[in-house]
Amino acid sequence: MTKTSNQMWGGRFASGPDAIMEAINASIGFDKRLAAQDIAGSRAHAAMLAAQGIVTDKDAEAIREGLLTILSEIEGGKFEFSTALEDIHMNVEARLKDLIGAPAGRLHTARSRNDQVAVDFRLWVRDQCDAADAALAALMQALVAQAEAGADWVMPGFTHLQTAQPVTWGHHMLAYVEMFARDRSRFADARRRMNESPLGAAALAGTSFPIDRHFTAKALGFDRPTANSLDSVSDRDFALEFLAASSICAMHLSRFAEELVIWSSAQFRFVAMSDRWSTGSSIMPQKRNPDAAELIRAKIGRIFGANVALMTVMKGLPLTYSKDMQEDKEQVFDAADSLMLALAAMTGMVSDMTANRPNLKAAASSGFSTATDLADWLVRELNLPFRDAHHVTGSLVAVAEGKGCDLPDLTLADMQAIHEGIRGDVFDVLGVENSVASRMSYGGTAPVRVREQIARWKEALK
Ligand code: ARG
Repeated sequence: MTKTSNQMWGGRFASGPDAIMEAINASIGFDKRLAAQDIAGSRAHAAMLAAQGIVTDKDAEAIREGLLTILSEIEGGKFEFSTALEDIHMNVEARLKDLIGAPAGRLHTARSRNDQVAVDFRLWVRDQCDAADAALAALMQALVAQAEAGADWVMPGFTHLQTAQPVTWGHHMLAYVEMFARDRSRFADARRRMNESPLGAAALAGTSFPIDRHFTAKALGFDRPTANSLDSVSDRDFALEFLAASSICAMHLSRFAEELVIWSSAQFRFVAMSDRWSTGSSIMPQKRNPDAAELIRAKIGRIFGANVALMTVMKGLPLTYSKDMQEDKEQVFDAADSLMLALAAMTGMVSDMTANRPNLKAAASSGFSTATDLADWLVRELNLPFRDAHHVTGSLVAVAEGKGCDLPDLTLADMQAIHEGIRGDVFDVLGVENSVASRMSYGGTAPVRVREQIARWKEALK
């Protein structure tokens, strides 16, 4: 237990906190991850104080030097973090006092830990938006490379996980490129909205010192200062938007991961994962497990959990700052770490995986996958209403099922027994290659359309 009161705010305190109080209150165990942002914020603040004549140039220079020393101590693992000093802000300031003495006490002029933590955390989350953007771009590139290799490889397309219609491998890969592109734009939107500096809001009401908030905003790469000091210290929307974007992105990752788990199973064999992305079993020698895909599938749990946790922390909090808000950081740190790891693992798996083209094609050719093509032929060539064509095709599927064969294996006589107008050229549309080639509508699965989209993405991802 600390006996003496806190050197930062202990003026009116006779004794230090209870040990449990210190344990529940301290955030240094996790907010040390904000060290670089904290020091950047303090440097901008000190430079502004000097430019405005609030501290002397000499003091500001001593502060700047001291902060740089602290940054290198932290980066070099030589900094001693103290729980008694609660958080990163007070740890840095106390060390600054050791290093430079009295001028350290002037750094906190016109500032509070409330705007300090708000600016630090925003800088950190902003960096994560940039990291997510870069990681998503890399994943999209890996998917486009897969799409390009197999723009015309035929595979089954599913609805309800039942064979629906043949599609192309390239088309399936590009479906995820679309999702990840929307994820990127969500991170970009969030970044744009969060890019305002809360520094200078001070405790909550602003300050009587003649500060220049535009100066610090610019120095820290923000577009502008925030406009309302009360909102500035109590807003955590930026972290929530990051978590929301991360949740949707992780949801997309989990869907693809699930497909990879299914596709790499012995029952499907659509893809082979490389050794680098598989694990074995300690008891079953034949096993080759897609653990990375399974873990990516599971990461959504932590990320979505963080989103719910922070929403719950913020819900019902009166303005402005409350210590509840210290609970924002661990959730966001964990979610960001999980997302980056999942994105990197997915990119590695996608780059290394090999599609089994014969198996894809064989699967595409089974399950009456060209039944819709047959129905469409009846509409186009025999002018049947689509509903009637659907019925005739259904009867033909039943005949094939009865004979234990697929639609292209029926004889013309089998077909004509159901509808006498059917001609021999119907067989042209029953092959899977013809089926996919015919789906040329914009956004369709035909290889020509897929190649157009590949060209568009390659240009966009340059
Ligand atoms: N460690 C605190 C947090 O993360 C910093 C702000 C503390 N402010 C205060 N008034 N006690 O939220």
